[in-house]
Amino acid sequence: MEIQLWRRILCPYELAVRELTVKFEHIIKEYKLNDLYSPIEQVRGRVKSVSSILEKMQRKHIPLERMEEEVEDIAGIRIICQFEEDIDTIAALIQNRSDMTIKSEKNYLKHIKQSGYRSYHLIIYYTVETINGPKEIQAEIQIRTMAMNFWATIEHSLQYKYKGEMPLHVAERLSNAADAIIALDQEMSSVRSEIMDAQNSSMNQSNLIKDILMSIENLYKVANKREVEKIQSEFLRIFQMRDLQQLERFHRQLDIIAEGYRAQSVAF
Ligand code: GTP
Ligand code: MG
Repeated sequence: MEIQLWRRILCPYELAVRELTVKFEHIIKEYKLNDLYSPIEQVRGRVKSVSSILEKMQRKHIPLERMEEEVEDIAGIRIICQFEEDIDTIAALIQNRSDMTIKSEKNYLKHIKQSGYRSYHLIIYYTVETINGPKEIQAEIQIRTMAMNFWATIEHSLQYKYKGEMPLHVAERLSNAADAIIALDQEMSSVRSEIMDAQNSSMNQSNLIKDILMSIENLYKVANKREVEKIQSEFLRIFQMRDLQQLERFHRQLDIIAEGYRAQSVAF
């Protein structure tokens, strides 16, 4: 096939990868904005290279005209999370969306691969709008913890290095490492609620400080300069105390002051 034709075929997949990445990144943003722990830690996307597509078609005896149906991972999204529990949350989130339809799933958490590989895979249908109208494509979404990702990345580069003929002692090491990763994920899960509490409160604090700074900035526009300077130094004093409750109280006071100015401007 000509290069130009490949580009045309892959174009909607590029769009899908970009759109899906933006959408999942926005989920992280929405959680953070609401002071909530995000089940998604990081999102990555890629379009499969032409040589990988060809290699897969040869390996699986897929004829060219069946490529878009049978090579399900031309568009690939990888979602990384912190805890194993997050994987189900993310899967449910995808399930409930109206813009993604789940075609199939592979649960390599329940059925760990021979290699030791663990991950949760979904194949979805997703529609992009092209200049020729809507086009439904398939995309593979891999959901895994940071620890699983660490293992898979290293195993993948070793596989690449040994081109499918991994020496037994290396495979054994990897298998031991996979067991260690399982133990690590379990260990992290057991302290999950504590870690999540800590993250929630630090998120809350950073949002609170953002709000306070914005209020002070707005006051600069309406209040007299001396008063705002006083408020600002009061903020610094409270900030140094590192006490969330004090910060929250200060925030409420600022709201009252701002409300006073709003009332005044309405009175005029
Ligand atoms: P391919 O493996 O891509 O031919 O597809 P498949 O139809 O066999 O699907 P499968 O779910 O087995 O693999 C999909 C993807 O998961 C792969 O392309 C890899 O990115 C990843 N994967 C599957 N097995 C392994 C593994 O043993 N090690 C690593 N590092 N990644 C794997
Ligand atoms: Mg495979």
